Amino acid sequence: MNITFLLNGETVELSDVDPTATLLDWLREDRGLTGTKEGCNEGDCGACTVMVTDEGGAKALNSCILFLPQLHGRAVRTVEGASGPNGEAHPVQQTMVDLHGSQCGFCTPGFVMSMVAGHAVGATDHDTQLAGNLCRCTGYAPIIRAAKAAEEQPVPVWVRDKPMAAKATSPMLPGSSDELAAIYAEYPNAILVAGATDVGLWVTKQLRHLDPVIFLNRCDDLKEVTITEEEIQFGAMVDMNRMGEALADLHPSYAEMIRRYASVQVRHAATVGGNIANGSPIGDNPPALIALNAVLHLRKGDERRQVPLEDFFIDYGNQDRKPGEFVEAVSFTRQPDRLKCYKLSKRFDQDISAVCGCFNVTVSEGTVTQVRIAFGGMAGIPKRASNVEAALLGKPWTLETIQAAIPAFADDFAPLTDMRASANYRLETAKAMLERYFLEDQDEVTNVLEVSA
Ligand SMILES: Cc1cc2nc3c(=O)[nH]c(=O)nc-3n(C[C@H](O)[C@H](O)[C@H](O)COP(=O)(O)OP(=O)(O)OC[C@H]3O[C@@H](n4cnc5c(N)ncnc54)[C@H](O)[C@@H]3O)c2cc1C
Ligand code: FES
Ligand code: FES
Repeated sequence: MNITFLLNGETVELSDVDPTATLLDWLREDRGLTGTKEGCNEGDCGACTVMVTDEGGAKALNSCILFLPQLHGRAVRTVEGASGPNGEAHPVQQTMVDLHGSQCGFCTPGFVMSMVAGHAVGATDHDTQLAGNLCRCTGYAPIIRAAKAAEEQPVPVWVRDKPMAAKATSPMLPGSSDELAAIYAEYPNAILVAGATDVGLWVTKQLRHLDPVIFLNRCDDLKEVTITEEEIQFGAMVDMNRMGEALADLHPSYAEMIRRYASVQVRHAATVGGNIANGSPIGDNPPALIALNAVLHLRKGDERRQVPLEDFFIDYGNQDRKPGEFVEAVSFTRQPDRLKCYKLSKRFDQDISAVCGCFNVTVSEGTVTQVRIAFGGMAGIPKRASNVEAALLGKPWTLETIQAAIPAFADDFAPLTDMRASANYRLETAKAMLERYFLEDQDEVTNVLEVSA
């Protein structure tokens, strides 16, 4: 596979690229650009952060789980390219020095590149922008101060990258969903790579050799968000940050959950299609989408079909997807916002859910008229709480009804004990989430960020 991209402003053309070579390894081993650090090699620490610019603008990404073909046509900037051609410091580099934002310095290039990318798009929510960068020695306050101090400074000309106009160079790098459908029909056992936030780890952690591999990142028609008066549709390649932005006004609780989905770097890569197709029982989108009664759009060659999302998940590791069939989009009907999503994880930021509960209850004249409740982390698949729903439907919307419905959780779920939570804890928190939903609906709102000792 031949690819071309910009690296710190200069064109790079690579031929016969190993499709699963990571940008981090290539930068450090082939290019000698060792400013970009390897910490965890699995997307968790941010030491390897680079800025990547495409048609959607500048974004921070973790280079450890970014395969080289994902860069085709994009512009990459590493910490070596953060300072100017005559050695001028980028504003965030200067404020990091002035405000003592670094001690041992191992995390610093990653922080600087997250800050460079955030600064490039005028982001001022620094806690969120930097939640994917770990520092063991400095402490975050000086780093946040440095990011804030640079806010008003103009974006230096040398980091104003633009993507390249680059044509697809290999059938394994299709340029549209039609091309994807054709090549996947030819290689139905190929591994599809969307954002690589799962597949990347198969390579860096499980040391798997993947062949053949088809990359979806050039399929722009799969990146569309379509909002009409009737419906909301996300193309499979819509990333989590864009999805959060699109949902902010329509379903704010869903958008808030997405803000806690991994980190900015992971959200810039991870796609809704990947989050569904991986069949994970702890993915955050499926319970929310099932609670919204979403429909999955699947395509194989020229054949398309739609399935209710809840029916897509058959069993652990088994989804209703045929060889050569891929996720094209997911959609749901516009509806009044009654959705609340509760993500419970050991850490507030950058952590996979132990339990994710999504509630969508319609109440009319004091009676429950519609109810959809779905959970992640409670079974081998994302699953509806059907018995709980039945115990609520048609009943008065009161605390007594909630309490009477709570025992039904034990009929719906027999969760596992694992490193994230015990079975009992999962069951108890799921029950508490229902009560929380009810209390919030009575305006007894608790924002966990406002709770203090
Ligand atoms: C540090 C870190 C934190 C994370 N935190 C969270 C979290 O908080 N919540 C959460 O839910 N997940 C989390 N994840 C998991 C991961 O981000 C998601 O599962 C992600 O949505 C996968 O999407 P992707 O585009 O990266 O998929 P990929 O890794 O590219 O692919 C995942 C799987 O889906 C298949 N696939 C991808 N697109 C399609 C398609 N269109 N059609 C058919 N098959 C397809 C691939 O072949 C592969 O089997 C985290 C991951 C990391 C590394
Ligand atoms: S090395 Fe930790 S996120 Fe990449
Ligand atoms: S300065 Fe040492 S890890 Fe951050």
